Formats: sequence, C-alpha cells, structure tokens
Amino acid sequence: MQTERVKVGVIGAGLIGEVHAKAYSEYEKSELVAICDINGARAKKIAKRYGCQYTTESQRLAENPEIKAVSVVTPDFAHYEPVMQMLEVGKDVLCEKPLAMKVAESKEMVEKAKEKGVRLMVDFQNRWSPLFLEAKKEIKGGNFGRLVVGYGRLSNTLFVPTKMVSWAAQTGPQWFLFPHLIDLVRWLLDEEVEEVYAFGHSGILKKRGIDIYDAIQAMVKFNKSGSVTFETSWVLPESWPSLIDFKIELLGTKSRIGIKGDHQGIDIAGEKFAYPFALSEQNAFGKTIGFFHEPILHFVDSILNNRIPEASAEDGLAITKIIAAIEKSILEKRVVKIEEAEF
Ligand SMILES: NC(=O)c1ccc[n+]([C@@H]2O[C@H](COP(=O)([O-])OP(=O)(O)OC[C@H]3O[C@@H](n4cnc5c(N)ncnc54)[C@H](O)[C@@H]3O)[C@@H](O)[C@H]2O)c1
Repeated sequence: MQTERVKVGVIGAGLIGEVHAKAYSEYEKSELVAICDINGARAKKIAKRYGCQYTTESQRLAENPEIKAVSVVTPDFAHYEPVMQMLEVGKDVLCEKPLAMKVAESKEMVEKAKEKGVRLMVDFQNRWSPLFLEAKKEIKGGNFGRLVVGYGRLSNTLFVPTKMVSWAAQTGPQWFLFPHLIDLVRWLLDEEVEEVYAFGHSGILKKRGIDIYDAIQAMVKFNKSGSVTFETSWVLPESWPSLIDFKIELLGTKSRIGIKGDHQGIDIAGEKFAYPFALSEQNAFGKTIGFFHEPILHFVDSILNNRIPEASAEDGLAITKIIAAIEKSILEKRVVKIEEAEF
C-alpha cells in the first residue's frame, strides 16, 4: 500500500536547512519537492544532494499548490518574511528558533497562523533529546515537587560567532542560544516567566568587529515557583571539548535534576579531547535517528494525523518576549516585568 506523503519545501539551504532537507527526503511520510535559497549555488547543491527542485525565490514555493508545508531555516533575523509569506497562502510552517527577534513580529506570526488555520511550529529540538525527556518525565511524574532554584548555561566556543555563523553580528548568543535553554526550562516546569534581571558583557567580540554581547547572565523568576539563573556566552575558548557548554541544574522541593547536555555519555581523547554530539544525529544501520531529526518528523506526523504539533508558535512568542525583556533589563539596569516586553 502506498503511504500518504506530505509534500514539503525548505527555505534556507545552509547548515541547518540541510538537516531539514535530509529529514524530509529520508522520511517515508514526506516528499521534499523544492528548496529555496537566495544563494543559488547553495540551493542547487542541496537540491542535487536530496533530489528536489530549487529556486532563489520563495514566492515560487508559495505559488506551488503541491507544497503543503514549509520549513523556514533562514538566519535568526530573517524568519518573519518567509514565514508570513507561507502562512498567507495557507501552508503549515516549521520555523527555526527563535521564532523572531522582535516581539511584534512574533505576535503577527502567531495571529496569522490562527487566522489561516494552519500549523506554526518552532524547532525547539532539545525537547526531543532523551536527556530532557527523562527530566520531563521526572517532573511530570511528581517526583520533583516545585522548583526552589535553578541554573542553566548554554554557551558556544568562539568558533561559532567567528567562523561558523556568517551573520553573527546580526544576532547574538541571546537569540542564537537562549531560545533552546529558556524554552527547555519553561517547558520542563510548565510555568510562565514573571520578571527578569540581567547583565551583559561586551568587548571581546567587538574587538573582532562583531558588535554584540559576549555573554549574558539573567535571573528569571517563574510565576508559580522559584527562580533560575540563565547564562550564555559566545566567547568560550576553542579548546573546550565541544561546540557547546550546556548544563541545567534544577533544585526542587523533592529532588534535584542535573543535566549535562554537552557530555552526552561519550568522550574521545584523540588529537583533541572531544565530547561528540552523540544524541543529535546518527546513522543507525541506514536510518537517521536523533533529536535533530525527530521534531521535523513530528511536524510531518502532526499534519498527517491532523494534530497540533509540540513547540507551538505561542511557545516561540513567549521565548521572544523573555529575551526581549532580558535585553531591556541589561540596557535599563533594572528588573523588567514580562509585560514590559510588549513592544
Ligand atoms: N536548531 C538548532 O540547533 C540550530 C542550530 C544552528 C542554527 N539554527 C538556526 O537555524 C537557522 C539557520 O541557521 P544556519 O546555521 O543554517 O545558517 P546558515 O547561514 O548556514 O544558512 C542560512 C541560509 O539561509 C539563506 N538565506 C538568507 N536569507 C534568505 C531568504 N530570505 N530566503 C532564502 N534563503 C535565505 C542563506 O543564503 C543561507 O544559505 C537560524 O535561525 C539558526 O539560529 C538552529
């Protein structure tokens, strides 16, 4: 029997756009129809690799009635336009994190998806990592109690802003990394953020011509329980054994949960000492598995099963508001209530 397949497109054929293209092309329930990138050579290369059409104009995807759903995998500051363009013509959208770097844009995206009655999911992929699923099970099962205090850090080595992300100066660790970290804790606790107080450090990246924060530390108060200190930086020495330094520690009234997201159970001492990304993407005897792929397959399944996907646009909007409040707190050197991020 022929399986029903969701026909999809991908906008943005960069590092992570390729992850989306690969997942759609391998999954038996989806068919990758076309990929779009303003860089034609890049679009052509990825299209050739995954056997689909390519274009430099996202309008071509919007006009194609065959395409039911689209992944938007453009840089952080360039999600709004392609997402709105696809929602407008009634396509389901999976958007990379952050949903947008502006609260107003995120709100419009949420409202447009509602108006058109389509899905808008944000790729908060760590929710599919076994480490965080285990933590969620512990908390949901009632063994954790309520949060007393917590700490979370997600940082990258200097390699990321200086050699990997060509548009680093147009984002920052707060937009590139905090979405993953803060989404995880908000999702784990199932609570909203009330207020934030944050500090930023700059100067190291600025000296290299990238005028953004080097690091940020933010104390975040949740509405039903305690507070969490979140930390992110983009200036970790390249000698660190992974691209990420990723820890979450939550102390509850009944238990303590500690997660090492960077050390995923394996380290290798070769030419360099390394913590490989063991859980994100693996070829398991011909099948790709891992938490980079799972949310993309989940998006396809949600369309076929007519369900609302995990990691909604509302979650994306909540995260954008929290980060906007953190930026405001740094600039104004005061505690900022989350409602004040409504700009
Ligand atoms: N989920 C994750 O773990 C993860 C990891 C890294 C990056 N990301 C996110 O994925 C997104 C893409 O990051 P990346 O590392 O793949 O970046 P990248 O620079 O490798 O790729 C972005 C691509 O988008 C193209 N592009 C830019 N504007 C466009 C437009 N308007 N229309 C079509 N194509 C356009 C660029 O030419 C480029 O090829 C970002 O939002 C980033 O934060 C997610």
